Amino acid sequence: PLTLADLAERHGRYFGSATDNPELTDAPYTKILGDEFDMITPGNGMKWYATEPQQGVFDFSAGDEIVNLARANHQKVRAHTLVWHSQLPGWLTDREWTAPELRAVLKNHIQTEVRHYRGKVYAWDVVNEAFNEDGTYRETVFYKTLGPGYIADALRWAHQADPRAKLYLNDYNVEAVGPKSDAYYTLAKQLKAQKVPLHGFGLQAHLALQYGYPTSLEDNLRRFSRLGLDTALTEVDVRMELPATEEKLAQQADWYRDMTEACLAVRRCAGITIWDYTDKYSWIPAFFPGEGAALPWDEQLAPKPAYYAIREALK
Ligand code: G3I
Repeated sequence: PLTLADLAERHGRYFGSATDNPELTDAPYTKILGDEFDMITPGNGMKWYATEPQQGVFDFSAGDEIVNLARANHQKVRAHTLVWHSQLPGWLTDREWTAPELRAVLKNHIQTEVRHYRGKVYAWDVVNEAFNEDGTYRETVFYKTLGPGYIADALRWAHQADPRAKLYLNDYNVEAVGPKSDAYYTLAKQLKAQKVPLHGFGLQAHLALQYGYPTSLEDNLRRFSRLGLDTALTEVDVRMELPATEEKLAQQADWYRDMTEACLAVRRCAGITIWDYTDKYSWIPAFFPGEGAALPWDEQLAPKPAYYAIREALK
């Protein structure tokens, strides 16, 4: 039978999953991970706390394990993430930095990590979650110390270190047209006009049934395409209030189908990544108590209605 990756490839797209190192000892899990997808993203292993736990001391073991697994399975890697306010190492957050100091720290982190994975990854989420819901810049340590120019600098440094990797900005709650996605649209336009190496916009797409479907998703993808950017759905899941009922699972399936169709309808939507593929390893229950069942495979690794809906959309 054709896999999600096979079906997506017929449209010139990829179909990916996030994974995380502790799960890789679960053989039934890694079997499906290796069979069904052609793109893999480390859910945590390439983040700053994992890769530079002490200043200037790099540890790429977690990311390498996933890159090696992907290579063994003939899969590509979407790398995640270089600059983010969350999951930073203590040495970075527990003191004050002058602008020149932090600039040097940021450049060294980006270039050391991107160089390490040069030629081994398809794309990088260079800056993750840079804006607030109202479209103002998020007041991260990078923004507060370096100003908004840290984004263009990060893209330029990453591009120097791996000129072939596609460089993305990535965020959540940007699926619909609205203040937050508008902020990215404006920024992307400026960066393109300034010839900053930006190649794509990643929409995480962590959706929740209780908040409604972002019906302007396709239009939104299209306007970024028109700027000359790739787009991708990068961390898809559709959570619900538990218990999951047949009705909720059917609605979830519709949403997965609609998202897949939206990506296929827009030429430069490069592909879709789900934020792990099974409810067994979803981040949702730990972060949103009482919610879950967000992924296309259940906790027993059995496909749910959402899985069949994605297949239909890809046929
Ligand atoms: O590594 C420690 C472990 O030593 C400890 O025993 C355990 C106890 O709680 O925690 C472990 O750290 C956890 C880490 O994942 C690794 O498993 C953290 O508590 C936990 O908060 C962290 O969650 C990750 C989350 O990002 C942090 O914000 C999720 O796994 C990861 O899927 C999630 O991914 C993010 C994307 O990077 C960006 N977009 C949103 C998405 C969901 O939050």
